[in-house]
Amino acid sequence: MRDVFDARRGGRKAIDQSGVWRFREHVLDIAESQIITHPEGATRLYERDGILFKHEGENPTGSFKDRGMTVAITQAVRLGAKAVACASTGNTSASAAAYAAQAGLRAIVFVPSGKISTGKLAQTLAYGALCLQVRGDFDAAMRLVLEASQSLGIYLVNSINPFRIEGQKTIVWELLQDLEWNPPDWIVVPAGNLGNTSAFGKALVEARDAGWISKMPRLAAIQAHGANPFYRSFRENFAQRHRVSPETIASAIRIGDPVSHDKAVASLRATNGVVEEVTDEELMNAKRDIDRMGIGCEPASATTLAGVRKLRASGVMRDSDRIACVLTGHLLKDPGAPSGKVIEIDPEISEVERILAADR
Ligand code: F0G
Repeated sequence: MRDVFDARRGGRKAIDQSGVWRFREHVLDIAESQIITHPEGATRLYERDGILFKHEGENPTGSFKDRGMTVAITQAVRLGAKAVACASTGNTSASAAAYAAQAGLRAIVFVPSGKISTGKLAQTLAYGALCLQVRGDFDAAMRLVLEASQSLGIYLVNSINPFRIEGQKTIVWELLQDLEWNPPDWIVVPAGNLGNTSAFGKALVEARDAGWISKMPRLAAIQAHGANPFYRSFRENFAQRHRVSPETIASAIRIGDPVSHDKAVASLRATNGVVEEVTDEELMNAKRDIDRMGIGCEPASATTLAGVRKLRASGVMRDSDRIACVLTGHLLKDPGAPSGKVIEIDPEISEVERILAADR
């Protein structure tokens, strides 16, 4: 691969292909030669039924996490770290493992035992990470990795790490750029550990302060009903922080005590944002519809469309509003039970004819 992108031979360098480092003056002040990029970002924006979908599942490891990870791993190497660690519901761990592999660092990941999709676990292991399955939920794994990174001196690459947030800002900037700096009325994001919600607010404030946009879009952060501490806080105008025992089919956001709560509150306030919750049934219906559009996403990502439906029904969003949903993870990350049927047949044309006739 090196020959292809060798500047002396022509071709686009990896950093010039990256949708993160395209904004490097506003992400991290570092020499180009020190940047560790896959590259990532430069994802597509789809429009279906009048709604925009920015598909962050099209990143190299299949989720938006790569946008923050390129910056966090670049910083880890700059600091001379030998190992990085994270707690994860599966996507951060896969991304950390891939970027650590690229940088030649050891990756140690803490995942809630039996609570992450087998695809994400397989991916994390394939990239060579040391995988510790913690008996407990994500929040227990998070507490453990915080302790481990402090006592063992391992560089933490969860979104509590501010360099992750700097990279994830580019989801919003790239979306705005896709729209020729004509902001939508709403940007809709799934909310789990609240790193993205934090990053999006920061990105919007910086874009406005830099004069890139003249109108502030409103953020809508969507949680699963069974893992809704941020929604509960929002309902009380953020008077207090909530912790819940999380349960939802969307395992990526099965989080009861989000670490970036305070920063996410600031994002909501800066953008006049809202928080909504959706049931597992609502988010799985939305997932089926996104899948049937030929786009597809993992369950957590579908909270966005489910949330839009609820916010429209309650009149918070108007039908004429321009809405951009961020799809955070790829369909194949968590296929679970397929929503279509597979029919086994003998290799006979009569079988095909019989089934096509019955399927009319
Ligand atoms: N969507 C997907 C697909 C995710 O993997 C996550 C978080 C979120 C949404 C929520 O984003 O945490 O920034 O509010 N996944 C983390 C992980 C927790 O470990 O992969 P958030």
